[in-house]
Amino acid sequence: MNTEELLRLFEESGDEFLSGEAVSRELEVSRTAVWKQIRKLEEAGFVFEASRKRGYRLISKPDLLTEESIAAHLQTREFGRRLLLMDKVDSTQNIAAQLAEQGTEEGTLVLAEQQLSGRGRMGRGWVSPYGKGLWMSLVLRPPLPVSSAPQLTLLTAVALCRALRLQTGLDIGIKWPNDLLHEGKKLSGILLESAAEDERIRHIVAGVGISVNLAEGDYPDELLERAASLRIAAGRTFDRALIAGAFLNEWESLYKVYLAEGFAPVKLLWEALSVSLHRKIAISTPQGVIQGTPIGLHESGALQVELEDGTITALFSAEMGEPVRS
Ligand code: BTN
Repeated sequence: MNTEELLRLFEESGDEFLSGEAVSRELEVSRTAVWKQIRKLEEAGFVFEASRKRGYRLISKPDLLTEESIAAHLQTREFGRRLLLMDKVDSTQNIAAQLAEQGTEEGTLVLAEQQLSGRGRMGRGWVSPYGKGLWMSLVLRPPLPVSSAPQLTLLTAVALCRALRLQTGLDIGIKWPNDLLHEGKKLSGILLESAAEDERIRHIVAGVGISVNLAEGDYPDELLERAASLRIAAGRTFDRALIAGAFLNEWESLYKVYLAEGFAPVKLLWEALSVSLHRKIAISTPQGVIQGTPIGLHESGALQVELEDGTITALFSAEMGEPVRS
């Protein structure tokens, strides 16, 4: 028996008590083993009500992340199975990169309650307050050329978007390449950093920041117009361990599909979830600002943009601007 099975039983029974005998029968273990697992969960911050006659019922789950609470929601083989849960770090990216250099296995996850210097794309920072979000970095070792890295970024956005839509019921879409938006405000960010050798990927550190339970006061004023959390968007708080588990499950299954079948299935899903297509916009590229209409993804992961003269250009790196009226 693992704690995952035990928690599932308690969660399924809601407010009802479960007797030690019923649990031991259902999970085919001794009553002592059940009791020991309940003690373990209590140590991890779960609160049970115990009644001599009726057994136990789950009263509340911990607010802080624990290895058990995350494992309870994992159905993965590798993603998150080696987990480093940390309190305060500079950036989970740095810790995961060190572990990757030391040869840690694929799927190793570094997750922190707070980041003191969280990193965003384009040299920006990332707001990562204590106990309110999911600030995580995962080590990947795909047997692929470095040119595949943009595809993995898009894949991560698709997995995250699918998991968050399912868990929150919110209408969340992907802004190219990998921002998740709700009503135009950014809920999460993705930062992939790769190390290569002879044009092959040695490892990738895939950083994901999910703003779960941040309140408006957690953001600097200048960000409030552009950023939101799941809590602000939905008007309720969320169980971070559940969100983390749901995302890692989705992420690993899509990664496996991608390794087996290539980018085509990911491309279709990304296009279906995108809010960036078929609208004329201004785009800042390293060569300057252009106007065009994104029409879909290229097999390579580049964004295909139809320019005003009808030609099509492919972009790997650019900033999407505002819609342009024609
Ligand atoms: C972006 O600019 O949209 C990317 C933000 C990525 C933030 C995550 S939080 C976990 C990981 N550690 C970091 O320092 N950054 C990434």
